[in-house]
Amino acid sequence: MYWLLLVPIGLVLLYLGLAILTDGRYFGKGLVYRLYDTFGPEIFDITSESDRWRRLGATLNLRGDERILDVGTAIGDLPISLAARPGFRGQAVGVDWAARMVAAAAERARRHHVADRVRFQVADVRDGLPFDAGEFDVVFCLGLLETLPHAEEVLADLRRVLKPGGVLVVSLYRGWAALTAALSYAWYEEHLSALGFRDLRTAPCRRGQDVIIARL
Ligand SMILES: C[S@@+](CC[C@H](N)C(=O)[O-])C[C@H]1O[C@@H](n2cnc3c(N)ncnc32)[C@H](O)[C@@H]1O
Repeated sequence: MYWLLLVPIGLVLLYLGLAILTDGRYFGKGLVYRLYDTFGPEIFDITSESDRWRRLGATLNLRGDERILDVGTAIGDLPISLAARPGFRGQAVGVDWAARMVAAAAERARRHHVADRVRFQVADVRDGLPFDAGEFDVVFCLGLLETLPHAEEVLADLRRVLKPGGVLVVSLYRGWAALTAALSYAWYEEHLSALGFRDLRTAPCRRGQDVIIARL
């Protein structure tokens, strides 16, 4: 009869697996938050992708004086890498809902001697971004929108904090990675156009992940 226990155990494992694979998009957001807050800093600190972020900065033709926002920044690898570029004299801000991630990002910025140019704060994008309209020249949101049930509302908020002429960079998953990350190019095209973005283009970013670059 003990084998009957396998059924509830299997269901719990299935629940955990699906919640983690979909990053809490449909259920298990609280669990996913705890995982990010507990293990995130150590997991994200294993590698830095600074070369990738510098290449992306070059693709965007950044002048170096921009105000940059990275939403869902984890340990801040992207804004820190951009702010560490020679000649950078702008300001970068990273937000994440996980307080331990934000603390690790601030510590990392100090280690890389860019704490005067990069700051981090805790914010849950579902509650609205804690910034005024038109504060930023460039807004990044990678690996996050596709995990949110009301992604179009967050997309509108990302647009709100951009200056006229500003640039939004969001992730677009391809191949196997796209199976659990549900936002298609057509979805972005429809919603970005409705929000007044133009000149949409894609650029390679990671294995299985491109970025969409859109200008207001
Ligand atoms: C898949 S990671 C992507 C990290 C980074 N942007 C990258 O591309 O490497 C998603 C990040 O978004 C954060 N996050 C998830 N839900 C969030 C929310 N509602 N508000 C703010 N940050 C959130 C997580 O803590 C995590 O750091």
